[in-house]
Amino acid sequence: MCGIVGIVSKTPYPSRVLLDRLKRLEYRGYDSYGLYDGRTLLRRIGGIRVEGGGRTTAGIAHTRWATHGGVSERNAHPHLSCDGRVAVVHNGIIENYEELRRGLLRKGHRFTSETDSEVIAHHLEDGLRRRPVEAALPRLFRELKGTFAVLAMVRGRDEIFALKRDSPLVLGAAEGRTILASDIYAFSDWTDRAVFFENDEMAAVGPSGARFFDATGRPIRKPARTFRWEQDRGPRRTAGHYMLKEILEEPAAVGRLLFSLGGDQKPAFDRLVRLIRRTRKVIFASCGTSYHATLLGAYYLHRTGREVQTLIASEFRHFAKVDAETLVVAVSQSGETMDVIDALKYARANGGRIAAIVNVPHSTIQRMSELSLNILAGPEVCVASTKAFVNQAVLLLALARAFGFPVRLETIPDRLRALFRQRARLRAMAVRIARSRDVYIIGRGLTYPVARETALKIKETSYIHAEGMMGGELKHGTIALIEKGTPVLSLINAGDPDIISNTKEVEARGAEIFVLTNHPTLGGDRNAVHLKTANDGKFGILAAAAGQLIAYYAAAALGRPIDKPRNLAKSVTVK
Ligand code: AGP
Repeated sequence: MCGIVGIVSKTPYPSRVLLDRLKRLEYRGYDSYGLYDGRTLLRRIGGIRVEGGGRTTAGIAHTRWATHGGVSERNAHPHLSCDGRVAVVHNGIIENYEELRRGLLRKGHRFTSETDSEVIAHHLEDGLRRRPVEAALPRLFRELKGTFAVLAMVRGRDEIFALKRDSPLVLGAAEGRTILASDIYAFSDWTDRAVFFENDEMAAVGPSGARFFDATGRPIRKPARTFRWEQDRGPRRTAGHYMLKEILEEPAAVGRLLFSLGGDQKPAFDRLVRLIRRTRKVIFASCGTSYHATLLGAYYLHRTGREVQTLIASEFRHFAKVDAETLVVAVSQSGETMDVIDALKYARANGGRIAAIVNVPHSTIQRMSELSLNILAGPEVCVASTKAFVNQAVLLLALARAFGFPVRLETIPDRLRALFRQRARLRAMAVRIARSRDVYIIGRGLTYPVARETALKIKETSYIHAEGMMGGELKHGTIALIEKGTPVLSLINAGDPDIISNTKEVEARGAEIFVLTNHPTLGGDRNAVHLKTANDGKFGILAAAAGQLIAYYAAAALGRPIDKPRNLAKSVTVK
């Protein structure tokens, strides 16, 4: 949440380049944005406009997801200290900001925003009154409590100072330029060389390169690593929306993942299989869409006789008992979700082992894990996760296959392409669903996680109230909400007669029924889409992709800001 960028160059560059790079991180938050280039302070509300005429050799920029203080220009970053000597951008939460603020107010500092972040600029200015920046930064490190990735500029120095604790920060080494950012997507088209900051590390980045230090100011060595970040060569943005572009990239992304699971990722994949086989207890930890993928994965593995548990990461420590015989598998698109990181810290503290399944390479969660696999979905820009979900589910299905789940994974890309040819039918369904304020999506067994995921996609992109639930649970309460015309989307796996009964029960009470099925006869109905696969493992994945398209078309029918839904951010780096 919140994206930060800093660029230092040997030769002057247009300041708007900072905004251009920031725009690539806009999915991290889009309440307000701003930049400081040593001369100009720009702060604006809303989506980033790449503008401005100045030039600089060093500048910082920020895109905000508001936590402390409302959405306003004065709460937008960068924040300047009283005398303008210090400018900072910050991602994270300073937990002791009120206490620090009180101390600084007593010393005569005047605050202009309601944010926790502004305290950093004043604290640094206060430190600089008595000591050089090299000593003021360790003091800042010592006194700040909470999570932070901070970039600071100090008047008279041609460097950017970077500090990190728990919030993501990475340095990209490009030709003639060094860029500091919240994630590699800010510069992945400039360079594939990056240095990943660990907790309590800092750097001074100047025109001739970067120097790294620990939190006490002692120099440390941090070599650059090469990263691989798959780009899909598809239509740039279909119908102006990344969401549709990313859904349509799914066949290519699945193909790439399957190829790598049989190639360069095979040793890691085999190690994970062995680890799961040897470990007494396996628990997945994840949030949101990734959690739904793990529910599907847990189902697949149960079918092979391998029992695994899955928990939403924010509740992990309240429900999981971890010991030395526990393997925790974190599943995360961004690899930066704070609740997942917290669950892993808890697992580690209790002696558990940690593996990860991530999309963003070298992300924090990957670096915390002794073993990791990459889903290779490539950059996902739309805040609503689509192709990452599909690749997570495919990887988990591949894992289940290693334990005996019968499935031919190789046909998934073609099956997805066949599904996409039915887009017009899915769109027609979506347009009808979009007329309602509520929709219920029901599933059973492997379609239960898909029902949950489809509901989440509909909620976040179209703002329609959507509940994804177990068909069997309907009559324990929710059926009271079914009225004449209430849309119910039923996910009918051919082998499951019970979900057909649940569908009949709501139909009898006036619900308008929509169906996604691989049932040979049910799929002919006007309100049904037939998904061509006899394999229920694959049906789960195809139904999820169909649900994504329904959510997309419903949001499009309602004219929603599909790629950047209100109040959301793609990378949730606060708890
Ligand atoms: C996806 O559509 C959501 N916006 C969100 O639930 C997301 O899946 C969740 O925040 C987890 O993120 P992660 O996969 O990056 O850990």
